[in-house]
Amino acid sequence: MRDNTTSQPAHEYDDNITKTMPFYDRFHEMILSLTAVVKPAPAAWLDTGCGTGTFVAKAAAALPGTRFTLADPSAPMLAIAKEKTAKLSGCEYLPLGTEALASPDVTYDVITAVLAHHYFDAAGRRAATANCYRMLKPGGLYITYETLRPRTPQGLEIGLEWWRRAQLSSGKNPAGVEKYIGRYGVEFFPITLAEHFDLLAAAGFSTVEVLWLSGLQVGLYAIKYPD
Ligand SMILES: C[S@@+](CC[C@H](N)C(=O)[O-])C[C@H]1O[C@@H](n2cnc3c(N)ncnc32)[C@H](O)[C@@H]1O
Repeated sequence: MRDNTTSQPAHEYDDNITKTMPFYDRFHEMILSLTAVVKPAPAAWLDTGCGTGTFVAKAAAALPGTRFTLADPSAPMLAIAKEKTAKLSGCEYLPLGTEALASPDVTYDVITAVLAHHYFDAAGRRAATANCYRMLKPGGLYITYETLRPRTPQGLEIGLEWWRRAQLSSGKNPAGVEKYIGRYGVEFFPITLAEHFDLLAAAGFSTVEVLWLSGLQVGLYAIKYPD
């Protein structure tokens, strides 16, 4: 039985994600290297849709002075995240989706949402993104990674085939690959790069940029407004 919105139960997530998501570890490296430029010493960092806490475990090792909040609506995912980060001091755990987070305004220096907002419809995404904007301090940095919707039907066909081959070559079994590809547009709802820019600009972010782009995944960053 599924206990979260991903294609596998929480306890199988870590074994599968690097086979499903090409460059998964690279996402984390890019987030940390960008943060070192934009927000070198963040006091408070929210990782929403934290899943099993892999990112925070890495980030905390690089940023020992930062207080991390991990949020996820899936209790089994958050339980694993808690276990993985148990040795870190001062972590906060919130069993909520991004749309429901009620932290006060201007709480966080950095908010990350990695592969977490593509389950929303358009209105849900807007609400979740607006909530992230609200919780960021002035000058705060928002970083999101997602699977992309290419601009054209042919682009989508090519992108999905690229992703299929990337998953097969990482050792995922063919049935698992098809199951995952079949969720595209059915269980998760990618948007185009242009829609990402519009979404972030409409939420109020002044600087909106691509951080990283691959065959079918994108990382974007946005800054609330200058200090
Ligand atoms: C593909 S996993 C990504 C987990 C983690 N960020 C990572 O990169 O490994 C998607 C996560 O989004 C969470 N999620 C589902 N609905 C969400 C929502 N409304 N707000 C935030 N996260 C959500 C799921 O529970 C799941 O843990």
